[in-house]
Amino acid sequence: MFGQKQVRAIETTDDVTVEENSAAPEPAPAAAAPVNGPEGNETLVRSELFKTIRTGVFSLMNASAAVGRTREQMKVGVEKLVMEIAEREHLNITIAEQSQIVGELLNDMFGLGPIQPLLADETITDVLVNGPDQVYVERHGRLELTPFKFRDNAHVINVAQRIAAGVGRRVDESSPMVDARLADGSRVNVVLPPLAIHGATISIRKFSKRNITLHRMAQQGNMSQQMANLLKLASTCRLNIIVSGGTGSGKTTLLNALSHFIGLGERTITIEDAAELQLVQPHVVSLETRPENAEGLGGVAQRDLVRNALRMRPDRIILGETRGPEAFDVLQAMNTGHDGSMTTIHANTPRDGITRLESMVMMANGNLPLLSIRRQIASAVHLIVQIERMRDGMRRVTRITELVGMEGDVIITQELFTFRYDATAYSEEVKGVYESALVRPAFAARAAYYGLEEALLEAMRP
Ligand SMILES: Nc1ncnc2c1ncn2[C@@H]1O[C@H](COP(=O)(O)OP(=O)(O)OP(=O)(O)O)[C@@H](O)[C@H]1O
Ligand SMILES: [Mg+2]
Repeated sequence: MFGQKQVRAIETTDDVTVEENSAAPEPAPAAAAPVNGPEGNETLVRSELFKTIRTGVFSLMNASAAVGRTREQMKVGVEKLVMEIAEREHLNITIAEQSQIVGELLNDMFGLGPIQPLLADETITDVLVNGPDQVYVERHGRLELTPFKFRDNAHVINVAQRIAAGVGRRVDESSPMVDARLADGSRVNVVLPPLAIHGATISIRKFSKRNITLHRMAQQGNMSQQMANLLKLASTCRLNIIVSGGTGSGKTTLLNALSHFIGLGERTITIEDAAELQLVQPHVVSLETRPENAEGLGGVAQRDLVRNALRMRPDRIILGETRGPEAFDVLQAMNTGHDGSMTTIHANTPRDGITRLESMVMMANGNLPLLSIRRQIASAVHLIVQIERMRDGMRRVTRITELVGMEGDVIITQELFTFRYDATAYSEEVKGVYESALVRPAFAARAAYYGLEEALLEAMRP
């Protein structure tokens, strides 16, 4: 049942939710009660009763009445209409039903329909609508099916169109796939039929209001305290860092945490497809790409923005995700005095990440021989941090790998930290330890320049 699963997760004493497994198993706190009650809204929104009242309300209401009004202002009017219609049609509704009906109608007018309460629920990180009958959410790293339903496919499409319209875009048969952003920063992707076979699909990745720090990640068990210390030093000493991981593994969150150690006096330029990073420094310029319009014009790609950023006198460039030809320009930036630049890459290991970088640079510049691409990578990138969302829903930094140079035509790496899991016993929770490689990091000399060598060597000690 909704909100009652056996998640071992946990709310801390402050207002920040801690990720799963961070404390001894204990029952999950009661989830924020969905406004439609634990049974969801199916029985209501698909009933004849609701249909009659809904049709009645919309036909009686002046179409422009809602314009410029707030939800609270409209509520009284809608309540009155619902009562009038119930009386006129001799419908027997209880007070509880009436307030549910009014809530549902207002969600339709002002929010995103039936999923509005899920968006308001802070414990939920993703909302996934697969046609009118299935709404899944992710809570504490795990997916659950909710009892919320849409009236029918047209209702889902209607909500999808409202989302797209909110960012000045449209979604219909001629452009059935759209990326958009909600007012609160959440990212939305919509795919309509016939591309989506079982009905319109809306995937919402909610914008996290909590700003997760390295310290918090260490507390939650996403990494050890030593690893957090090392990453903090790496960011402070202006290493060029790549965060590598799979979809939803927490790359952007980690990148954001690393950015906290950018000096207050540094000019940082961030480049993203959809602005997600929340830098705390005062001197930040945030740029966002723009997709082409329906005529195929006006698109601005990440690569254009990276090139432009170089002319904006940046101290550091932060690229939300490297996934194409902009890789070439980012490496150039890292190699030409914009130390401390950071980005993320979609890869399963640091080695894979390097190979992906190579092929992305090749895509951008087919004439470059592989050897010189490798040389460029080896001198540009200092550190690759691998993060993984594991089968128990917990995110862990599984490797911190340093690029130390070239030997022949091979890039030489050195592991600084690894997560070694315990393979001896089955358990739901992944067990293991974070291990320091007990080596002297190649960037120790750089740390010395910042007066942080001793702190760095301390971070490597067990
Ligand atoms: N360490 C963490 N603790 C708790 N929640 C986390 C943590 N890291 C990420 N999350 C949550 O997981 C979700 C996905 O995180 P994030 O966007 O950072 O992943 P990503 O790897 O950048 O995803 P994508 O592949 O879509 O770019 C977000 O809702 C975020 O709040
Ligand atoms: Mg991301």
